[in-house]
Amino acid sequence: MDKFHIRGGNALKGRVSISGAKNSALPCMAAAILTPETITLHNIPYVRDIITMRRLLEDIGGHVLTPELRTHKISAANVELMSAPYELVKTMRASVLALGPLLARFGKARVSLPGGCAIGARPIDLHLAAFTKMGAEVVLEAGDVIARAPQDGLRGGEIEFEKISVTGTENVMMAATLARGKTVIHHAAREPEVRDLAELLNKMGARVRGAGTAKIEIDGVEGLGEAQHTIIPDRIETGTFIVAGAITKGELEIKDCNPEHCNRIIGKLRDVGVEIEEVNQSTLHVSCRKEIHAGDLQTEEYPGFPTDMQAQFMTLMTQANGRSEIVEKIFENRFMHASELQRMGARIQISHDKAVVEGPTQLIGARVLASDLRASASLVLAGLIAEGETIIDRVYHIDRGYEKIETKLKAVGADIVRLRDSVTAPLSSQEGVAA
Ligand code: UD1
Repeated sequence: MDKFHIRGGNALKGRVSISGAKNSALPCMAAAILTPETITLHNIPYVRDIITMRRLLEDIGGHVLTPELRTHKISAANVELMSAPYELVKTMRASVLALGPLLARFGKARVSLPGGCAIGARPIDLHLAAFTKMGAEVVLEAGDVIARAPQDGLRGGEIEFEKISVTGTENVMMAATLARGKTVIHHAAREPEVRDLAELLNKMGARVRGAGTAKIEIDGVEGLGEAQHTIIPDRIETGTFIVAGAITKGELEIKDCNPEHCNRIIGKLRDVGVEIEEVNQSTLHVSCRKEIHAGDLQTEEYPGFPTDMQAQFMTLMTQANGRSEIVEKIFENRFMHASELQRMGARIQISHDKAVVEGPTQLIGARVLASDLRASASLVLAGLIAEGETIIDRVYHIDRGYEKIETKLKAVGADIVRLRDSVTAPLSSQEGVAA
């Protein structure tokens, strides 16, 4: 398994470009299953989860062409298999996004249950309840979910999510595009990624209104066709680089981002003393000349502060003057980075969904273990300011969602090296996709 070796202490200076949003690209790739015609997606990030989704599409009989690194042309004209196997679902929960499109277009789907995962139980009961409401018969067999639509297809209906779910909203929205009649999703997720997917679906001929609000209305259509779409910038990668610039007392220009999607992240980071200037609609300038001060945080669904930025904020708070309380409201058990940060000298106390960070502390380099995608990012940030050397093991987690993070960091002055395991081939050669 690859590791990162980081020597801390360098202030990051220069320009960094933000990649496309993985959490938007994944549902948009799954949406290609809805039509026999070709869907062309631009600005796809080169990260492992995308390679996994591509494998899923190819496994079921789809074709994915990559004329350029960040462009995927997906054809689901010859889908033969309506199932996502356990090997894929276990490495990427977002594989469940195949369920809605398969069910809507072919009337049946089989997807392995994601099971336990590093950040809590994360069930898919809400997705399944919604499909049942749309007339599907859903059974569990040997760890798989098997769903069948009635003979005349799924029917629209009133879907009331008890809890806001991003992929749940996306799955139902996709299924509803080909259902009979109208579907209304209440308590829908409002994330920009949901809106981006709706935009693609409408380009394909779907009739989706209200995406980005808590009520989405979809009028089912007979069929969907070809479309081209450019994926929005990754707001979590943007936030991570803002923190990287601030925590190292550097100066970064972050380009190809969408500041509007990062409002709450930017607001919170300004509150604790980070200087963030909006240069234009796609560029931010970050510096941090003053002291960082403590700040409390509670994660929330969009437009609130994202859970995917909680770990990175925690690392920043180890450098702040005072006591910060961080409450995680979306996922249970999402503080695994805290114990690794403690090993580097951070003063953090966890009780249930709350972490209390006492700062500032001089972090000391150590061997640490990445436990999930965003936890890994927080450890990289810690390594950038730690005294001495930090070795982060299991960086495959970070490769799932950050495009070439070490290359981007090195280009702005970080001392970071990927130590390749002799038995682990590089990301590109393992998957046969040009880097
Ligand atoms: C998506 C994001 C992930 C982000 C998360 C929350 C993708 C591919 N992933 O994950 O990066 O951290 O949103 O912003 O977009 N829940 C249930 N039953 C369900 C579904 C969800 O109880 O059927 C619960 C979850 O356990 C969690 C909460 O609802 O506590 C929110 O989860 P959800 O929004 O569904 O997360 P994902 O869509 O998996």
